[in-house]
Amino acid sequence: MKYFIVTYGCQMNVHDSEKIAAILESLDYQPAERREDADIIVFNTCAIREGAEDRVLGNIGNLKKMKKKNPDLIIAVCGCMTQKEQTANYLMNTFPFIDIVIGTFNLPKLGEYIKAVKTGRQLQLYPEGDIDESLPYKRTSGDNAWVNIMQGCNNFCTYCIVPYVRGREKSRKEESILSEIKDILAQGKYKKITLLGQNVNSYGGDLEPKVTFAQLLNDICAIDGDFTVSFMTSHPKDLTDDVIAAVAKQDKIEKYIHLPAQSGNDRILKLMNRKYTRQHYLEIIKKIRASIPNCRITSDFIVGFPTETEEEFNDTLSLVKEVRFDSIFAFMYSPRTGTVASNMEGQIPEKIKRQRVNKLLALEKLVQKEDNKR
Ligand code: 5AD
Ligand code: SF4
Repeated sequence: MKYFIVTYGCQMNVHDSEKIAAILESLDYQPAERREDADIIVFNTCAIREGAEDRVLGNIGNLKKMKKKNPDLIIAVCGCMTQKEQTANYLMNTFPFIDIVIGTFNLPKLGEYIKAVKTGRQLQLYPEGDIDESLPYKRTSGDNAWVNIMQGCNNFCTYCIVPYVRGREKSRKEESILSEIKDILAQGKYKKITLLGQNVNSYGGDLEPKVTFAQLLNDICAIDGDFTVSFMTSHPKDLTDDVIAAVAKQDKIEKYIHLPAQSGNDRILKLMNRKYTRQHYLEIIKKIRASIPNCRITSDFIVGFPTETEEEFNDTLSLVKEVRFDSIFAFMYSPRTGTVASNMEGQIPEKIKRQRVNKLLALEKLVQKEDNKR
């Protein structure tokens, strides 16, 4: 029997799919080259923007024909979309041919549910319990091994659905992270370790005794072996001097920091609940550049946040000009049901958001062209 996993969204999801693959292989499923050859298809979904959800919905719709041809085909949908009760309901009602709708937190039970489906039940399950750290992964990213260091997010940026679908911050114990990395390196085929968390800089604050992210980085670098370490994502409000110092000092750490700014305007940053100002952000960039020469710095921006004026958007453009990022991701603001910003007055028309995102991307291209020349 064969499986096919379709993964949407961020590295966290890519890594979750490695867990799903391990679960399926423990049930004697083998990877299929094409979804047409599969006995089970799993959609690991993303809810970060409406566009991401629309893509998932379109592709699930297309499975109807496959299910008609092969009624024994099992279709499972999991990930961030199914973690929202309303969306999970919508999926079950709109696509009755889906067999399993399962939240991220329930993944460890996927095997059990597949067995139940074979007895003819449709299952819909809501988040409960904790993510099971002991489940193995089937690593699929070449010589790079993803390692989760924490789950969830406590920041509640007003535009963001993540805290609602991934829960509150929960750090893994340092010993289990270190021993996972030692195991990975012992296999001899991994040269890169990428630490994952929604907000890696606040790692360890919830542990007893507390551990800092800088400490974790230094302890990982003390492990013997020929490997490099990188991490994502950093939040500017929590990027401490000791983390910058660790990146500067440790040869094993890649000189790369992804530091989402989201906006260059203080009023918008405040409305976004980002807890830093443009000035503060620029100071961090200055510190990074002073301590880590040639550090690659990348960023995320959202344009067309509710009430954003043209002048305020221009502050984002001027920040991008000033910092000269190595690259940026630019997103049009997408209202997510349940978040604070989705209920704000002054939503910006699609057309203006599109103009702004194009302007920002054009500027980014120009900056890169100039820098490449130099
Ligand atoms: N609309 C647009 N972009 C968003 N992001 C997060 N939530 C939204 C949203 N509702 C962007 C942020 C974040 C990146 C992963 O996705 O820029 O850093
Ligand atoms: Fe979302 Fe903000 Fe948490 Fe990042 S820090 S996951 S943008 S709430």
